[in-house]
Amino acid sequence: MKIIEVQDQIEGGKVAFDLFKEKLQEGAQTIGLATGSSPLEFYKQIRESDLDLSNLISVNLDEYVGLTGDDPQSYRYFMEKNLFDAKPFKESYLPIGVEETAEQEVARYNQILEEHPVDLQILGVGRNGHIGFNEPGTSFDSQTHLVQLDASTIEANSRFFDKIEDVPTKAISMGIANILAAKSIVLFAYGESKAQAIKGTVEGEKTEEVPASALQGHPDVTIIADKEALSLLSR
Ligand code: GLP
Repeated sequence: MKIIEVQDQIEGGKVAFDLFKEKLQEGAQTIGLATGSSPLEFYKQIRESDLDLSNLISVNLDEYVGLTGDDPQSYRYFMEKNLFDAKPFKESYLPIGVEETAEQEVARYNQILEEHPVDLQILGVGRNGHIGFNEPGTSFDSQTHLVQLDASTIEANSRFFDKIEDVPTKAISMGIANILAAKSIVLFAYGESKAQAIKGTVEGEKTEEVPASALQGHPDVTIIADKEALSLLSR
């Protein structure tokens, strides 16, 4: 794994943006996108650039179950506001989070991922080491699936909702195997609350208890992080 220490999220966004442009020049056609606060500066860089993404495909990692796409808390809404409205892609895929049709949706999404192999996958990391919504204990062989969110994830994500009861308890997420299939991966981590997860990701045992530790087996992972997130690493 390559680790790039940055001053802050602004610098991290710029570093990722340069890498993204490099991948586009090399012919990348599909980019895997993530929600959360960590990739925000990266999206800002793209929005403010003169890049034309209208020939590119995007696939998002995950979506809550039970929120419609126009709900401000949905990941579709997040992506529209932070990226797609300003920079439309040729096609942008996100899972559709409806519990009753989850089974068909999982199959549809895996099919989409098969048709559009990801060249560059953007990731954040949860405090418990989750990637996408793959909570601790998820099989490294997993494909897109319906997820029951951990109490700690619900609590962490409640900061975006009026009250904790409003946070969905389920989601549809790409699996770890889908994520590992990406040619290149960039993972952002900022702040002390991510330090334990980063330690587990980089130097911990490769274990399903720390989903991001699956990245240890991937040939092209770049971690972009600040000092605080890297603070527990021994090197
Ligand atoms: C959510 C998302 C993840 C994201 C994580 C970290 O649970 N499903 O994809 O990486 O939160 O979010 P943040 O970047 O806001 O810390």
